[in-house]
Amino acid sequence: MPRYADSDKEKVREAIDMVDLVSTKTELRRAGPGRFKGLCPFHDERTPSFSVNADEGFYHCFGCGVGGDAFGFVMATEGLDFVGALESLAGRYGVELTVEDEDPQAAERRRHRERLLELLERAAGFYERWLWESAEAAPARRYLAERGLSDETLRTYRVGYAPSAWDKLLMAGRQQSFSNREIFEAGLAVRSSKGEGRIYDRFRRRIMFPLCDARGRVLGFGARALGADQMPKYLNSADGDIFHKGDIVYGAHHARVAATRADEVIAAEGYTDVLALHQAGMANVVGIMGTALTEKQVGELAKLGKTILLALDADSAGQEAMLRAAKLAAGRRLQLRVVPLPKGLDPADLVQEQGAEAAKEIVGASVPFVRFQIERELESGDLTHAEGKDAVIAALRPVFGTLPPSALREELLAHVADRLDLQASLVSSWLPVAPAGGASPSGGGARAPRRTPGGNRGGGSAPWGEGSPAQEPWGGGSPYDDEEDPGRWGEGAPATPARRAPSANPVLLAERAFLAQCLAAPDPAEELLGRLSDDVFTGAFMQRLAAHVRANLRTPTRGLPEDDEAMGRAIAALLADAEPLSNSATVLRRELAYLEMTRAERDIAEARRSGSGSINELRSVKDRAKERWEQLLQQSMDETMPAR
Ligand code: UTP
Ligand code: MN
Repeated sequence: MPRYADSDKEKVREAIDMVDLVSTKTELRRAGPGRFKGLCPFHDERTPSFSVNADEGFYHCFGCGVGGDAFGFVMATEGLDFVGALESLAGRYGVELTVEDEDPQAAERRRHRERLLELLERAAGFYERWLWESAEAAPARRYLAERGLSDETLRTYRVGYAPSAWDKLLMAGRQQSFSNREIFEAGLAVRSSKGEGRIYDRFRRRIMFPLCDARGRVLGFGARALGADQMPKYLNSADGDIFHKGDIVYGAHHARVAATRADEVIAAEGYTDVLALHQAGMANVVGIMGTALTEKQVGELAKLGKTILLALDADSAGQEAMLRAAKLAAGRRLQLRVVPLPKGLDPADLVQEQGAEAAKEIVGASVPFVRFQIERELESGDLTHAEGKDAVIAALRPVFGTLPPSALREELLAHVADRLDLQASLVSSWLPVAPAGGASPSGGGARAPRRTPGGNRGGGSAPWGEGSPAQEPWGGGSPYDDEEDPGRWGEGAPATPARRAPSANPVLLAERAFLAQCLAAPDPAEELLGRLSDDVFTGAFMQRLAAHVRANLRTPTRGLPEDDEAMGRAIAALLADAEPLSNSATVLRRELAYLEMTRAERDIAEARRSGSGSINELRSVKDRAKERWEQLLQQSMDETMPAR
């Protein structure tokens, strides 16, 4: 890793357009001076609670509590470390980074690597042009179309075509002043064993799938044969300085946002499976490129989501891959589920033969990994006599050993007993139990509740989508509808025009987030609310709401005034907001700091408008609150980081 000058970070920060940056991941709308909001890219929601402060350059979600600056945003949405985010942003906003303290050899290696990456990037472009523009690629285009892949999908994944001649890529590379040696080292050429070691194009007459890192930088290629005469069916870049097949999860950079939002990633086997599922509206899909899953790949999957849906062929290789995945997932906080693919169909076939909706349904019908394991043992066992049953029970012992007492365990026990035609209590007494509350390494534990009741499985394909408006605390229709609806959160604040949406008002949003967090963390909230005076909240309605929350922290739906419908609605909405939140005292204090910061900002704006009040004083109030917020943000992130 190169070391960059400290001043570079600030240079990059100044060059960043936060709204432009965030807009690549979610659609933003203006919500006040220097304020924007949209649907949170980090959790599944239908009403925007994600806000961006353009002037200060940070983001915050009132729904799930994430927040940070541009570097944090890129780290989170692109799965990069800090240096990666710095490089990515510098590239994007045209800032030249200065490498410090680099010995000449390291500098040389870095330049060499950058050259090869540049070459690979151009090669991807070269193959793309050949696919779309050459007559030679007509059969390839036809083949891809017949497989039901749209041009848009092919372009998203930058699918290309390698011409059949021996040296087209070599010539193009040389024209752009890359040496034979560089072309060879990038894995794009091979040396012939005879004839003085002449080199020629590695990929010829093949459909090209660029294989990229988390940032979408091309590291190598997977190349599919077009004709039955070509072997192997897929030729991949050879492992080398840049490309390591076992490190790559195919399509991760296209899946990241949808997978993060759903906290769920679909793992398919092949390139075409990934394209087909993505096209069918399941953008949170990646490919494991065959069945030899590595530890590193499981690590990459874990970065994308807590739940992994294995959509692997039902053949024995696929089943082996699933067992392998389970072994590698053991010890990580991962839920493994298995998509019940019909025998003999891979996901690409499935989408093509049965359509997108059917495919979504099947992916949505995934079962916990243990259920799949149990089914496998039951199917392969001989249940017609006692010894056969005993063998099955013996095989099931390690499986049940991963299951803590739970409804799922009981259900599976009953199922096994039923199939073996034995009493459930007997079967139960023969099988081990995992300690209660313990992790279930094979992903067998009860599934965590989804964050949004109507959340679309398979992830984020239609973020503004259909949904079921009735479940939305703020009513249905466009996520911004509430801006036109006066009645939703009561009378509004003094600074808020009567018809302005409360949720468009950052202060009210912050107050709402804080109160929701109070419901989520009643113990620390009790103490904190006891110390806060009522006028912390803006306007009569919010003050009444806060008073009610304070008096009924643990039973907020009780004691609601009967004639106050707005209050009932607000409490219901707060409860819905609170549902996915943790009961952390740090998060509670963080929300309060955010609220204070937001209010100070409003006061500064107000003071500017009216020309009265001390802006400097207000600014220092704001700076202190901001500092507190940032500290607590870091602290709360540290608290929730999974232990590795
Ligand atoms: P499959 O043989 O199942 O191919 O290999 P596929 O993805 O269904 O391809 P289509 O649909 O026939 O075009 C699954 C994956 O295993 C890797 C590739 O990543 C492939 O997508 N593989 C397969 C190789 O790397 N090399 C091979 O020779 C075969
Ligand atoms: Mn296939």
